[in-house]
Amino acid sequence: MKNQEKKSEAKISAAGEGLAGESLIGETISDKREEGLKEILGYYSSMTSPSSQENIVSMLQEIQELYGCITPEHSAMAAEAAGVKETVIDCIMKLYKSLKPAPYRHRLTVCTGKNCHREEKDFLDTIKKELGIKGKIPSSGALSSDKKILLETRDCLKQCRTAPNFLLDGRLYAGGENSDVKKLIKTLKAEQ
Ligand code: FES
Repeated sequence: MKNQEKKSEAKISAAGEGLAGESLIGETISDKREEGLKEILGYYSSMTSPSSQENIVSMLQEIQELYGCITPEHSAMAAEAAGVKETVIDCIMKLYKSLKPAPYRHRLTVCTGKNCHREEKDFLDTIKKELGIKGKIPSSGALSSDKKILLETRDCLKQCRTAPNFLLDGRLYAGGENSDVKKLIKTLKAEQ
């Protein structure tokens, strides 16, 4: 596995070197990425067990290092390389929070369970308004208007006694009041 990791690192590094080149134009960067992507997909599809969760996760991590995220198109290609259905990739993406479907900077997970909702009925609406998000939040989450923050919901974060709760990049914020979350979102949006 160590050899495999080294090989993967070398592969990413090789793809990344070109990206940092001073005189590369956009088209060349895109070519380098496609080349890197083909190499990653070829490498993992030729493994003895391309459909193992461990190998799929490694493949997705490498794709993310190359592109900054894993788009639906990447998911489809990864599924084909691993010989699994796209739903398998979707499940893994949900399981591994570090795998991002879009190049956002932060992931905000708001609990919509009954305890959190009872404590602060308009908590989610407040957050949506601050982020410029309208309508229902799909299961894959919704991006803020500036594309910096992904907002998603969960039924219960298993921390009901400190409701209302939310997670920011996996860290729990308990008993949040609307004014606090507004301040936090303003800080995140102001990040350069
Ligand atoms: S209902 Fe929100 S943590 Fe349980």
